[in-house]
Amino acid sequence: MGYNLPVENLKLPAVFTYGSATAAYQIEGAADRDGKGKSIWDVYTHLEPSRTNGENGDVACGHYDRVQDDVKLMADLGMKTYRMSLSWTRIIPLGGRHDPVNEVGIAFYDKLIDALLEHGIQPSVTLYHWDAPQTLYERYGLFLDTAEFRADFEHYARLCFSRFGDRVKTWITFNEPYIISIFGHLNGTLAPGHCAERGSDTVREPWRVGHTLILSHAAVTAIYADEFQPTQQGRISIVLNGHFYEPFDRSNPADIAAAQTRLEFYIAWFGDPVFLGRDYPACMRVYLGDRLPVFTEDDLDLLRATSKINSFYGMNHYSSKFARQITDRPPAKDDWTSNIEELSTNIHGEEIGPASSSAWLRIAPTGFRKLLNWVSSRYPHLPIIITENGCPCPGETDMEVAKDDQFRQRYLGLYLDAISRAIYEDGIEVQGYYVWSLMDNFEWSAGYGPRFGIIHVDYDTLGRTPKNSAYYLRDTMEQRRGTSSVRNDY
Ligand code: NOJ
Repeated sequence: MGYNLPVENLKLPAVFTYGSATAAYQIEGAADRDGKGKSIWDVYTHLEPSRTNGENGDVACGHYDRVQDDVKLMADLGMKTYRMSLSWTRIIPLGGRHDPVNEVGIAFYDKLIDALLEHGIQPSVTLYHWDAPQTLYERYGLFLDTAEFRADFEHYARLCFSRFGDRVKTWITFNEPYIISIFGHLNGTLAPGHCAERGSDTVREPWRVGHTLILSHAAVTAIYADEFQPTQQGRISIVLNGHFYEPFDRSNPADIAAAQTRLEFYIAWFGDPVFLGRDYPACMRVYLGDRLPVFTEDDLDLLRATSKINSFYGMNHYSSKFARQITDRPPAKDDWTSNIEELSTNIHGEEIGPASSSAWLRIAPTGFRKLLNWVSSRYPHLPIIITENGCPCPGETDMEVAKDDQFRQRYLGLYLDAISRAIYEDGIEVQGYYVWSLMDNFEWSAGYGPRFGIIHVDYDTLGRTPKNSAYYLRDTMEQRRGTSSVRNDY
């Protein structure tokens, strides 16, 4: 919806920050070099080839050996910030709080952070982007044991703050807790691949995982605030993803309610405890009953205290869908949606937007603007940072399509216009934008198929070629910036 609009290159605030995002496992490669331990992705990608299109992150984009060149490319493309993640098992190969630290892994990230700063690029660092230590999975099932995971994550985070926090001023604890919970522990399409067919308890596990992530985020936020923020003066938060949902049938109150419920089950599941310091949304408590873990009074005290410390809402957003309340069949016993179906076409056969080369991703900038409004009215005290946004183009295996990636340029232009409208017409504070992704990379269960990069990667030679979208973003960010004084004061 909204995809028929022309790209208008609408203005953005003078201090709006622009950069790109990546994640360690998706680009680094060097999976067993210099003392790195195995993560759940190292293992998962080597179990059954069908899970990841026969591909893995062993080599990926070879970023581990190309730090200087990659950082220079960012600078040449006008980026002033870079969202990266740390590989936990490069830093603590076995992952646990009593396990040895790998100084060579720390040195790698020191080198990367220093290179960024030398090029005037501010690092924004995600502690956990899905590559948990395999040893912790084997020891206690990772997120399934809240107390153990929390203690190990606290130790890892404290080490990262103390070693990198003199230079890193933006921290993100977890990337997309919804995906970790549902795709990792219900659908089983992402590591560690838990699903009913493989014997997991999908009725309860995903909600336990979410609970662990929320409390571990809060615990680490408290540590940062108490022990590091006073001297390091940085900020910390979490990154939540989510589509926007339109009702499948606008004239049906059940579908109107379904769109709202779907947003709450997806986003407010994490957002309400983390940013509002309170229990899960009421619709989840009612529907999930005792499948949903309970916060103790101590937990709620921690959530209340830390909710005020999160200093931005990190938003990963790509697309929108229609929500339809299913009424003609009962939900499965592990249903995670309140019996709501997600569709890309509404009751009139209208599509939500043109399809990219990933089935779940269509161009729908109007939904993006609506989501910015939804988030900002639910969490009004927080500025929003777009921590990921981007798309793979149809036909992009053809190098000509990749180089002049019109589909992506149009997508990015429309989504940036949506941000501008949200800022200037709706009064929402959006502080910055990270395109996903700096370069084509390992797209998890889809392997190297979908190319999300604004830089093309030749997976045979590991050569990098900026696509036209990279130049479009460089130029439009300049042109849009501060062209009006209407609201450029943050
Ligand atoms: C979300 C994830 O954070 C990232 O790892 C992934 O590659 C992109 N979205 C695209 O699917």
